[in-house]
Amino acid sequence: MTKSQLISLLNEMNLDEKIGQLVQVSGNFFLEEENVQTGPISNLGMNENMIYKVGSILNTVGAKNVITIQNKYLEKSRLKIPLMFMADIINGYKTVFPIPLAQGCSWNTEVVKRCAQIAMKEASIAGVNVNFYPMVDLVRDARWGRVMESTGGEDTYLNEIYARVLVNAIQGDDISKEGNCAACIKHFAAYGAVESGREYNKVDMSERELRQYYLSSYKAGIEEKAKMVMTSFNIVDGIPATINNWLLRKILRGEYGFDGIVISDYSAIQETIAHGVSKDKKDAALRAINAGVDIDMQTNVYSNFLKELIKEKVLDIVLIDEAVFRVLKLKNELKLFENPYGNANIEKEKRVLLSKENLEEARKLTRETFVLLKNEKHVLPIKENQKIALIGPYADNFAITGEWSMFSERENIVTIKKALEERIGKENVLYAKGSNMLTTREMNYILKAEGKPLLKNGQELKIQKKYLDDAMIVAQRADIIVLAVGEHYKQSGEGNARVSIRLPKLQRKLLNMLKTLHKPIVMVLFNGRPLVLEGIENKVDAVLEVWFPGTEGARAILDVLFGDESPSGKLNMCFPEHEGQCPIYYNQYNTGRPNIKNLRFESRYQDASIYPKYPFGYGLSYAKFEYQDLNLSSTILNRGKRDKITVSVTVKNCSNVDAKETVQLYIQDLFGSVVRPIKELKAFKKVLIKANEDKKIEFEITEEMLKFWNKDLKYVSENGEFKVYVGSNSKDCLGAKFQLI
Ligand code: GLC
Repeated sequence: MTKSQLISLLNEMNLDEKIGQLVQVSGNFFLEEENVQTGPISNLGMNENMIYKVGSILNTVGAKNVITIQNKYLEKSRLKIPLMFMADIINGYKTVFPIPLAQGCSWNTEVVKRCAQIAMKEASIAGVNVNFYPMVDLVRDARWGRVMESTGGEDTYLNEIYARVLVNAIQGDDISKEGNCAACIKHFAAYGAVESGREYNKVDMSERELRQYYLSSYKAGIEEKAKMVMTSFNIVDGIPATINNWLLRKILRGEYGFDGIVISDYSAIQETIAHGVSKDKKDAALRAINAGVDIDMQTNVYSNFLKELIKEKVLDIVLIDEAVFRVLKLKNELKLFENPYGNANIEKEKRVLLSKENLEEARKLTRETFVLLKNEKHVLPIKENQKIALIGPYADNFAITGEWSMFSERENIVTIKKALEERIGKENVLYAKGSNMLTTREMNYILKAEGKPLLKNGQELKIQKKYLDDAMIVAQRADIIVLAVGEHYKQSGEGNARVSIRLPKLQRKLLNMLKTLHKPIVMVLFNGRPLVLEGIENKVDAVLEVWFPGTEGARAILDVLFGDESPSGKLNMCFPEHEGQCPIYYNQYNTGRPNIKNLRFESRYQDASIYPKYPFGYGLSYAKFEYQDLNLSSTILNRGKRDKITVSVTVKNCSNVDAKETVQLYIQDLFGSVVRPIKELKAFKKVLIKANEDKKIEFEITEEMLKFWNKDLKYVSENGEFKVYVGSNSKDCLGAKFQLI
């Protein structure tokens, strides 16, 4: 449709039809079967007339469902405006990839891009038009459950890069084509900064902090033309983001020029009442539409109150028309007026979902997301002649796809035990579960919060004893123990904040028992956030962090454990030494009393270091890399677009293993009109360096890279001295100085 046709369609619509376009509900109102739920379930209190006028559907997908709902809906629709189907396809649809935090650890934009492209291919065929992804919230506090959804982790630059890559991977060159969807940047803004890591908690920061670290990833996604933005649950400067005019009108629509759809998060408009700002639903509706929120997700606030507000003349119809027009425009860009089913295709689903190619590529991509945290005496890779005992609650477990993989089925997931049987033959696999994942009490916390039936106390303990005994028997017969342990997948993700981010108690006990055998132990760690490994890490010889690795995760793990490929992931979030350090991140300020000699009046803790256990950017390899000869083409950078300094470094692979290394470049502004961090990531390159070879890596420093929000909140660079650091992580770097004049 042309723009003028869309406008005449808008003019034909009555007020109810217009308001309907601004409402989103889940598909279970149209289907018999139950639907996935991503927020509190409440009675919507919407009449059937309104249900058949809504503009979009939340998280009901699958070609058959989409076609059925669309047909039912259009039959009753006066103007035949098709529904849009929106869903959370985060780390895959049926073929599940590693969680976003893991994907980010690849430091490989191609890996992140391919995971999203394959996911979109599957999702578009299953009828998804809009994907609620990417989540680009900067995250610095591992206690927050949702750090697992962040690709860029604790770093601003990584978040920007991945935001751009993901928007392009999701949308392609035409959102209506098979394999593409509209992307939704979320959660605007600063949701990752919830105080003390507690879910939905207060966010409070200066405008400088917001602009300097948090906003740029959303902006990057918008610059790449993401079609949609989702508001966040938190407040920003005292006002819930969902009704925050300054944030949505001034920054998002004004400064960033965003003209796509703004959707609330799940029931977030209504929740502004509980926040204590809106006095009732009607007030909430008025505030949200005034702030520029076009779609209300899963409540009746818009459906039941916008009309009254118009009749009472407190709300200008222009605001409704603008919002409806944006919705119609996106439907048009998706070509739904021509074909209301989009790319939903029942026949193709059979061929494309979980296809051999998708699974093979998933296995390859997944290998790059693992981070080798420790490898004493080269215990890894496992030697072919070593007898392995595979032990732990994750050894034969399907729940390795993470909290967001709600559309995947367990029968498609390969467990490590199964993958090991494939690899070395069933008869050679020594396996024991070793332990329950959680105690009954811990498990009941999870079940209770989800309103599910609780486990009975007592029985579990008996089984636990048997699990431990079996594990000891199996371990005794082996040369090396592969211990697959970690958090329960329901311990991370939305609503799963924790104050203790350690390996669950029962699994620690298992490790302690196995340790008494004095055999090499390789810990394969499954988790959705950085963990505190105090008292664990020193008891094992190697730690391979595999996060929640997805459908082909188990095969990929074995590829790496056996040395078919060296691990090459680097942390995008540091591992704290202790929870008390959270939030913790590498780009801190020095303070007036830096921690140098660890004396009393320095900025420090009495009972812990101020540094993490494993820093940002850290990750080992089976190869050994040495950094030498850091050179700058000049120590003077002239301001202006054309000048640049070329930084070069030689990275030597001093081993017999071919491997990839991520070379990282950080900059420190030594003096500024406002305090600047001790280091900021500004560039990186991931390169394959063959065994015993050297590679000269070059970067360019430009004035643009030195800009920041100065004392007057202007984004500028300031003349002066800088330090550049190049290294294999944020801690171990070579350094040199230069000046901007
Ligand atoms: C949620 C999430 C958001 C998601 C939405 C729809 O509660 O915060 O990320 O996209 O619901 O499922």
